[in-house]
Amino acid sequence: MTITRRAMLGGTLGLVAGGLTGCATAEASGSLISVGFAQTGAESTWRAANTASLRKALSRRNGFELMFIDSQGRQENEIAAVRSFVTRGVDVIVLAPMVEGGWRDVLEEARQAHIPVVLEDRGIDASGSSLYVSRVGDDFRHEGALAAEWVVATSDPATRIVELLGTTGSSAALERSAGFDEVIAGHGFTVLDAQDAGFTRAGGKEVMAAFLQKHGDDIQLLFAQNDDMGLGAIQAIRAAGLEPGHDIRIVTIDGTRDALVELIAGRLNHVVQCNPMLGPQVASVVRAVHSGKPLKREYIATDRVFDARAAKEVLATWPY
Ligand code: AHR
Repeated sequence: MTITRRAMLGGTLGLVAGGLTGCATAEASGSLISVGFAQTGAESTWRAANTASLRKALSRRNGFELMFIDSQGRQENEIAAVRSFVTRGVDVIVLAPMVEGGWRDVLEEARQAHIPVVLEDRGIDASGSSLYVSRVGDDFRHEGALAAEWVVATSDPATRIVELLGTTGSSAALERSAGFDEVIAGHGFTVLDAQDAGFTRAGGKEVMAAFLQKHGDDIQLLFAQNDDMGLGAIQAIRAAGLEPGHDIRIVTIDGTRDALVELIAGRLNHVVQCNPMLGPQVASVVRAVHSGKPLKREYIATDRVFDARAAKEVLATWPY
């Protein structure tokens, strides 16, 4: 993992600690920072929490004038949203890129207009370029590796695996696959199938039903690249007369409340967190870029793993 060169997110990070102070007066003095935020859509429970976190942090009360666009799962909508923010001349653009590719032209337009772009959540395939100033997100490769470490630690080498993948071309899916594959390599596991289920519950249910139709009892373990797909798969497994968590063991990524409940009930076996509460850090980065302060290239959230016992400990106060 290359996480050591990155700044870790958390309550102790300097930018966050200082970022939202003194903002209450900004609204009164009319010095709000205008921000255009292009979100991917509302495909998952994680996404809803992520949107809520950014909306709250980028509020008028905190000194921001927020223009929010839900791109409804279509990159062309997201590109149009960014273009509309450029036309309006916002101070800063925040972009949650649906997929890695296809951003050069519109981000070049933002650059020409001298509007800084902050990426939140996923990355783009122009990591070394000046098309964006900073990214606030999670380490997807590490998350995939953590899921695989649990597989390696708890599974017979003859275990047959299926995978529900996230949106094709998204950095979340690509990097989780890379991290997972790297760790399971050489252990003898058989991956029977792996398919895009769009990070949605309905997609997870549908693709898992097709896997069960095709591979039947051969499937012993499911790696779902997010909780919602794993929760949809639980429904398909039950509909096929099998017991999720027992006949087919399941590991997912996100750490939503819904998944923690299923973990405690024994229908999921392991959950890796992907922290969606990125709003305070995004607000700090936006404020810093607006006032010309130096920024790190990436701000990466700290993620943890859950078994049923750990899930029980946090459930009462878990925020998403
Ligand atoms: O990019 C983060 C991923 O996108 C989350 O794991 C998933 O739930 C969301 O839709």
